[in-house]
Amino acid sequence: MAVNLLLGLQWGDEGKGKIVDVLTKNYDIIARFQGGPNAGHTLEFDGIKHVLHTIPSGIFHDKAINLVGNGVVIDPVIFKKELDNLAKFNLDYKSKLVISRKAHLILPTHRILDAASEASKGKAKIGSTLKGIGPTYMDKTGRNGIRVGDLELSDWKERYRNLANKHEAMIDFYDAKIEYDLEELENEFFEAIKTLKSLTFIDSEEYLYQAQKEGKKILAEGAQGSLLDIDFGTYPFVTSSNTTAAGACTGLGVAPNKIKEVFGIFKAYTTRVGSGPFPTELFDEDGETMGRVGNEFGATTGRARRCGWLDLVALKYAVHVNGVTQLMMMKGDVLSGFKTLKVCTAYNYQGKTITHLPYNIEPENVTPVYTEMKGWSEDLTKMNDKSQFPKELNDYIDFLEKELETPITIVSVGPDRTQTIHR
Ligand code: GDP
Ligand code: IMO
Ligand code: MG
Repeated sequence: MAVNLLLGLQWGDEGKGKIVDVLTKNYDIIARFQGGPNAGHTLEFDGIKHVLHTIPSGIFHDKAINLVGNGVVIDPVIFKKELDNLAKFNLDYKSKLVISRKAHLILPTHRILDAASEASKGKAKIGSTLKGIGPTYMDKTGRNGIRVGDLELSDWKERYRNLANKHEAMIDFYDAKIEYDLEELENEFFEAIKTLKSLTFIDSEEYLYQAQKEGKKILAEGAQGSLLDIDFGTYPFVTSSNTTAAGACTGLGVAPNKIKEVFGIFKAYTTRVGSGPFPTELFDEDGETMGRVGNEFGATTGRARRCGWLDLVALKYAVHVNGVTQLMMMKGDVLSGFKTLKVCTAYNYQGKTITHLPYNIEPENVTPVYTEMKGWSEDLTKMNDKSQFPKELNDYIDFLEKELETPITIVSVGPDRTQTIHR
């Protein structure tokens, strides 16, 4: 059976968690393939809001197995907190959660290194979530990392010590004056390792291979968004993993020819949290309205998200890089009440009009060219069928489908599981 893939097409927080939760009933396995606790995936149902960071978003369903892939980086401390949060919901999460032995561990010193690196960058900081993501992936590619499977070896604490000692010297090198109590952090870390070790570790690539052979249905869940991809994003203001479709192959060990549908999630407008260029960013009342109505605050850090109009130049790029076969438009409800909607369809780039995403999208190189469309005033949040959509919303959807040459198969009109309209 083929593997379907779901990923964010913008700068993250598109609503991936919500849609994975909605789709889980059709799958046997939900598999996270990259990122770590920098992600914050929100799910809402029965009046309760859940935020997951490392645990895949299918965990609230009875049957599906939730797999944390080799491409993910795990902070045992945050992972333990996530599990503790689940405990009150009477879920048998232990039987539904499996972890790749090849996933890398975030150590307390990785977090400190992240903070030291950011402090040393001053104004040029990435705006990282300070979860240690960059340093952990650096140790992975530098071939120094500690993996989940190492916890089953007798000498893992020795390896831990060697790496932590090296990190301490690196932290000193930054001279960033970060205060920390390593002993306290390590106590918490080793305690959390015990919890992690109570879960099932697997050779996940083999597990997924067998699952495919048995005809199981697998959904790969991405974190972050395509514009934060280490290769294709707005480098250096990106995360440290491949958030695009190829990342699912390396992050799970699934062969490229086994991937069937690629679900691309996007917001009906654009948001970004952290630093970096954002051509359609708004600094006016419209941007303020999007942030307020859309409740645009980071699910992981609580930071206010920057808001702006939909950027079709960037979205088209993401559709192409990922080979998106179906689009899902989120938060259309937030645009209700705007008289006019703007969609960026081209850039003025160094004096020329272009329609592809160029190397430099900083404000000095790029000004967005907008197409204006009539907005709608109807409240979408109570709608449950596409026949109820106002004409202007249908026009907006039709326009995007034509520009992106890809069907929009789901329109989300609110944060709850039920506020999801299939087309
Ligand atoms: P993710 O990281 O892609 O899973 O997205 P986040 O959970 O970080 O951010 C999406 C936010 O929008 C969450 O607070 C969701 O509850 C909320 N949300 C998702 N879909 C909709 C929608 O259609 N309308 C509204 N108003 N909120 C939504
Ligand atoms: P989800 O999965 C939005 C951003 C950070 C920062 C940059 C690098 O919820 O969509 P990192 O901590 O990864 O080194 O930070 O990437 N970022 C996200 N922005 N949603 C996310 O995840 C993000 N994960 C990282 O804000 O700009
Ligand atoms: Mg998020």
